[in-house]
Amino acid sequence: MTNRKKRLELTWIGKEERPRLEPRILIEDQELSYAKRVSNDDIFDNRLIHGDNLLALKALEQEFAGKIKCIYIDPPYNTGSAFEHYDDGLEHSLWLGLMRDRLEILRNLLHPTDGSLWVSIDDYEAAYLRVLLDEVFGRGSFIASNVWQKRYSRENREAIGDVHEYVLTYAVNPQRFKEIRNKVPPTPEQTKVYRNPNNDPHGPWRPIPMTAQEGHATKEQFYEIVSPSGAVFKPPKGRCWGLSKATFEKLRVEGRIYFGKNGDSQPNVIRYLSEVEGYVPWTWWPHEEVGHTDESKKEIHALFGKTDAFDTPKPERLIHRILTIATNPGDLVLDSFLGSGTTAAVAHKMGRRWIGVELGDHAHTLCATRLRKVVDGSEPGGVTEAVGWKGGGGFRFFKLAPSLLEKDKWGNWIVSKQYNPEMLAEAMCKLEGFRYAPDREVFWNHGRSTERDFIYVTTQNLSREQLHSISEQVGEDRTLLICCGAFRGRSDFSNLTVKKIPQSVLVRCEWGRDDYSLNVTEQIPVIVVEEAKADASFNDASKGSASKAKIGGRRRSSSAMQELPLFAGSDKGSKR
Ligand SMILES: C[S@@+](CC[C@H](N)C(=O)[O-])C[C@H]1O[C@@H](n2cnc3c(N)ncnc32)[C@H](O)[C@@H]1O
Repeated sequence: MTNRKKRLELTWIGKEERPRLEPRILIEDQELSYAKRVSNDDIFDNRLIHGDNLLALKALEQEFAGKIKCIYIDPPYNTGSAFEHYDDGLEHSLWLGLMRDRLEILRNLLHPTDGSLWVSIDDYEAAYLRVLLDEVFGRGSFIASNVWQKRYSRENREAIGDVHEYVLTYAVNPQRFKEIRNKVPPTPEQTKVYRNPNNDPHGPWRPIPMTAQEGHATKEQFYEIVSPSGAVFKPPKGRCWGLSKATFEKLRVEGRIYFGKNGDSQPNVIRYLSEVEGYVPWTWWPHEEVGHTDESKKEIHALFGKTDAFDTPKPERLIHRILTIATNPGDLVLDSFLGSGTTAAVAHKMGRRWIGVELGDHAHTLCATRLRKVVDGSEPGGVTEAVGWKGGGGFRFFKLAPSLLEKDKWGNWIVSKQYNPEMLAEAMCKLEGFRYAPDREVFWNHGRSTERDFIYVTTQNLSREQLHSISEQVGEDRTLLICCGAFRGRSDFSNLTVKKIPQSVLVRCEWGRDDYSLNVTEQIPVIVVEEAKADASFNDASKGSASKAKIGGRRRSSSAMQELPLFAGSDKGSKR
């Protein structure tokens, strides 16, 4: 059979559809950027981006590919009843397609050896997302499906109460991730068992039993121990001592063996709290350790008052756990569904660099406001006290530039009137794969791709004399790409490549498209029903041929042909 599928895969309606994204430039709004110097360690180059994350991620790709250490995302969970009249999983398809497009860019942004992705999700899409992530990252990149206990009280409205969500973890290089991931520090509950009844100068300690299973024991692990009171101890049946005699004697001399209050109990090894490195993370994340949804609501109320400022924030402690495991100070963290700004706030307090993307207007009202407070050190909530945060640093606020091209009144593509020459030069650099770095002294140098390859962007109509003069300035051992409005004569200079804007870029991507939002509830499908010949009698004009009728709403028949605007919609925020 020739048609046989070659690999295991998840399919969905429209899986083959791929948006051809325009790599936009980002424009800083200096009024909304914010900075305050408190210490020499302050970090300023953080980015808060207002706009759709698919376009924003594409915009970041050139500069940040391979540079992000940890990505955390908390996308809309797709639990809104978007298509109550449908039972064909259409909204799952939309959601999966939109997620896949984002995950692919996120994967490119991750550090090639040390990067990891963490995704919050609940049971509604968890299984599908897991298979999708296997497809994007490779199944071997799966690290864990961590279970976050989001509630501490029973959910009685369901047949079986829902008390948890997942945080799925994938690493680009799982072996390396195992070597570099950090352990989790002990919780107050875990440290409670360390005491210091004898004022030991090494601090709190606890006795650790000294016996172990006999299994692979050597003969050095069977010996008699005489306690200070004269009692003699041997390992119980089926067990041995966990230490060889030599190691035991050494620890005894160091005062690290404990025989109980009266010196007559089984020997124990003394372990000091100061020696506890932390615990290997595990997949159970109880609310006592990483917070719950009430805690995160309270954090938002403390910041913005008791309004319904934001419905679905995550607790700062949950993000703290992720960043503790996956990052170290100075590492770059990205959250492209920033919501109320939790990831950026926690990353900032923990001394990580961060990039956050948010589509809704709460990029200003919540994220920027919250982060200004964090920078000021005037926000005592969340993990502030636990990490000893005092303020400092800053962030730059960006929005996405409009599309480079727009249509004129005759329907021809022209450079958008909103672009000034600098924006045009930067946009063309991005499109052509050059790093934008205009040289004040050399008018034709707007950026470079290598040490010897440059780009010049102008809307001018260049004459042959101008091209000749530029060619001479560039010289024999360098090359220049010129993107111009037009040029006269032949462009046969060996060190110049001359292209016209916009003609040379027209087919590169989809222009003028601002909305790739993930809001499936807004994306009502338009359905084209291909009417059977037998129905043609309803429409004399179409006698003898199939006709198409567009309807919005319920699917008419299983044979209906669907024309689905899979990537269209509006950007009115999100629904879980
Ligand atoms: C569940 S919330 C994230 C909450 C966040 N973890 C917090 O602690 O506040 C999801 C967020 O993703 C945003 N969002 C949805 N679609 C987006 C898109 N296409 N681009 C950027 N942000 C988007 C929504 O506006 C919403 O704020």
